[in-house]
Amino acid sequence: MPQRIGFAGLGLMGSRMARQFLDKGFPLAVWNRTPEKAKPLVERGAKRAGTPRELAEMSDVVISCVADPSAVGRLVFAEDGIRPVARAGFSYVETSTISPGLMRRVAEVLEAQGTKVLEAPVTGSKTGADKGTLLLMCGGKKEVFDELMPVLMAMGSKAVLCGPIGHGSVVKLIGNTLISYMLEGFCEGLVVARKAGVDAEKLLEVVMASGFSSPYFPFKATAIAKRDFEQHFSVDLLVKDQTLMLEEAASLKVPMPGLAALREVFQAARAQGWGQEDIAAVYKVIEKNAGV
Ligand SMILES: NC(=O)c1ccc[n+]([C@@H]2O[C@H](COP(=O)([O-])OP(=O)(O)OC[C@H]3O[C@@H](n4cnc5c(N)ncnc54)[C@H](OP(=O)(O)O)[C@@H]3O)[C@@H](O)[C@H]2O)c1
Repeated sequence: MPQRIGFAGLGLMGSRMARQFLDKGFPLAVWNRTPEKAKPLVERGAKRAGTPRELAEMSDVVISCVADPSAVGRLVFAEDGIRPVARAGFSYVETSTISPGLMRRVAEVLEAQGTKVLEAPVTGSKTGADKGTLLLMCGGKKEVFDELMPVLMAMGSKAVLCGPIGHGSVVKLIGNTLISYMLEGFCEGLVVARKAGVDAEKLLEVVMASGFSSPYFPFKATAIAKRDFEQHFSVDLLVKDQTLMLEEAASLKVPMPGLAALREVFQAARAQGWGQEDIAAVYKVIEKNAGV
């Protein structure tokens, strides 16, 4: 019998990740803060839980995909949260991007009650969530990682065990730091090209034939060319991750002057009211600053 899955957080990513379990024949229960968002999954056969606690009671494995550390705090530690019913024989998988410190605290508390805990933040955006091809950066015990592999592979096509709890979150935050550099740097280049009269297609052709190519560049360049800033990953959430990275780096006494400066550019996008647009909207800030 496949394990009973409880999925908490049905946003852009979570709704698509949860759907994979229905498609792959797992019994599924769902919970979302705004209950209406559960409707499409409930219509396809998922059970609806009234609270995270009820979700945990109905499930063998709860997977969380919520916005930020305070949302995870609510899910786990609230009176109607998961903690009061955490037990032996039950597992908790955290896929949200949060701080390594909070992840360790969640694991400490739930493991003390016999629950198996794995962190598994993801990358691959809403397209990867839709296709079930996410990459999962895991932290936890090897035996828990191995046991939960069929559950992880319902959502993704590759899972890497990065180390103990906390290491998955560190790797995820470093990944989003790299995305910040790549996207902002590329957008600066695009605006310079535009002002210089260089064809953006030619710029992209050279970038893609070079040693510094990445599928990330055509993905975002296509959207920018169409001025399509519909959310794949919001500016608000990337700034949340940049802040988490800077806090982690500060606690380790690692200066990150590059990321600190980049965050201000993304903050400017939020100040313009583009926080709920895709991170490609940072292009509009650079364009505006350049008087284009
Ligand atoms: N989008 C991406 O490409 C991407 C890629 C990798 C990782 N991630 C990470 O995955 C997580 C989810 O991202 P997303 O893009 O799916 O975000 P999203 O569309 O904004 O969804 C956020 C989810 O969190 C819930 N939530 C927010 N605050 C809450 C609170 N205080 N208590 C309970 N639930 C709360 C929301 O509930 P409501 O529906 O009630 O608002 C919603 O279900 C984030 O940690 C993000 O950094 C995102």
